[in-house]
Amino acid sequence: MQFELTRLPASQEPRGCVVVGVYASHALTPSAKQLDQASGGAITAAAKAGDISGKPGDTLMLRALQGVAAQRVLLVGCGKSGEIDEGAYQRVVAAAAAALGKLHAADAAFYLTELAVAGRDEAWRVRAAVAATSHALYQFTEYKREPGRRHLKTLAIGCRARGGKPLEAALAQGQALAEGVRLARDLGNHPANVCTPGYLADQARGLAKKHGLVVEVLDEAQMGELGMGALLAVSWGSREPAKLIVLKHQGGKAKSAPVVLVGKGVTFDSGGISIKPAATMDEMKFDMCGAASVFGTLKAAALLKLPLNLIGVVPTSENLPDGNAVKPGDIVTTMAGKTVEILNTDAEGRLLLCDALTYCERFKPEVVIDIATLTGACVISLGGHASGLLGNDQKLMDALLDAGRSAHDRAWQLPLWDDYKEQLRSPFADLPNVAGREAGTITAAAFLSAFTDKLRWAHLDIAGTAWKSGKEKSATGRPVGLLLQYLLDRVGA
Ligand code: BES
Ligand code: ZN
Ligand code: MN
Repeated sequence: MQFELTRLPASQEPRGCVVVGVYASHALTPSAKQLDQASGGAITAAAKAGDISGKPGDTLMLRALQGVAAQRVLLVGCGKSGEIDEGAYQRVVAAAAAALGKLHAADAAFYLTELAVAGRDEAWRVRAAVAATSHALYQFTEYKREPGRRHLKTLAIGCRARGGKPLEAALAQGQALAEGVRLARDLGNHPANVCTPGYLADQARGLAKKHGLVVEVLDEAQMGELGMGALLAVSWGSREPAKLIVLKHQGGKAKSAPVVLVGKGVTFDSGGISIKPAATMDEMKFDMCGAASVFGTLKAAALLKLPLNLIGVVPTSENLPDGNAVKPGDIVTTMAGKTVEILNTDAEGRLLLCDALTYCERFKPEVVIDIATLTGACVISLGGHASGLLGNDQKLMDALLDAGRSAHDRAWQLPLWDDYKEQLRSPFADLPNVAGREAGTITAAAFLSAFTDKLRWAHLDIAGTAWKSGKEKSATGRPVGLLLQYLLDRVGA
């Protein structure tokens, strides 16, 4: 989908459809008012007749209004007039986009950017409108013989501020974000028989070529030489070789310390010998969504030519049962030298991540953020609304929390006190890979914290936010929004 800005009054917009807002009180947004005047009261009449309630997300399509250039007018309910919050804005925009998705028009002009969002300016509203419409119109049809096609190709975003620059930048940021999210969703939605560790490596090579990134893919022999015994153990039961993918965007000064993103890339998590129950096991194809979010963020950063150095590190493997698979009780040696007793082969993400985090030390990073679908416990505690956030650097975590609020891709901090670290005791090795049922998200992070002493580090547990289950089953592309916003905030864009 193409996005552009429009500064035309709504009644003069010649595109196939103009989208304007109606409040629950039948009050009209400025562009709705303008259309109403141009059409001799057609919108007030529709509202008075009760055809549109003004409830958030309610929509009504009108056709061929006198005095209006566009063929169609889409009225969208916006709730109570006055300021709304980020989430309400996104929901109204998504409802409008869903109606646009059914439209037989190639283009439309979108004026819901007029809604007042508390604490946010017009640039924010433009960026969020692009991201939210693109999100709502997303379809994954790669494996459908007869994909239902969308007609809408171009969406013009209505705006007022003159002098262009900040809104042009906001539009570009929204588009880059949409591209990054789309990539992350596509990668997540591919089945695990296609999206293997080798496939992710090929994707990284493709991204590097297309966007001028530097790529390196370490194979199992190279990881063996580095002593990545934990990462490699996850892959023992798999016929697809594990990889460690490194992708670099060098937009900053040569010597400026990079931001490093580490993404869990388990392309299918059966649990291994500690096998998972059958119900919903298909969803474990999404266990590489951390990796996908790293690729998506790198793509967006490259599209925007962000002036900073950014490195993505993706440890990727399958987790399968097999005669060669790692067994409960097996002990392996990590790259850091610590030994780990693998009590549960289903706690494999932390085994990949601990070696990947140690590997990050060589980049002398400014900060390291890992992103992982790490624990079912996180789905229980925060559901699908917030990603879990833990780490050893409060300043970094505050910046991530803030970026999450701004992108409406929120995170919520959990405590990483020493008390939790004491739960990690093994009679045989330096560490066990699990510590009982209590506080599973925190003990998983506590395990990782044993490998991040030399780093300013934060961990995002996206088990609840990376995909949706049930009827709307799909990767969400989270937390690309949060991560890109964090980078934009860092460079002051
Ligand atoms: N990939 C899963 C986490 C997960 C589970 C994400 C359900 C989304 C939904 C992870 O590898 C895992 O299996 N974690 C175990 C850890 C346990 C064995 C300590 C879990 O959460 O059950
Ligand atoms: Zn997993
Ligand atoms: Mn697992």
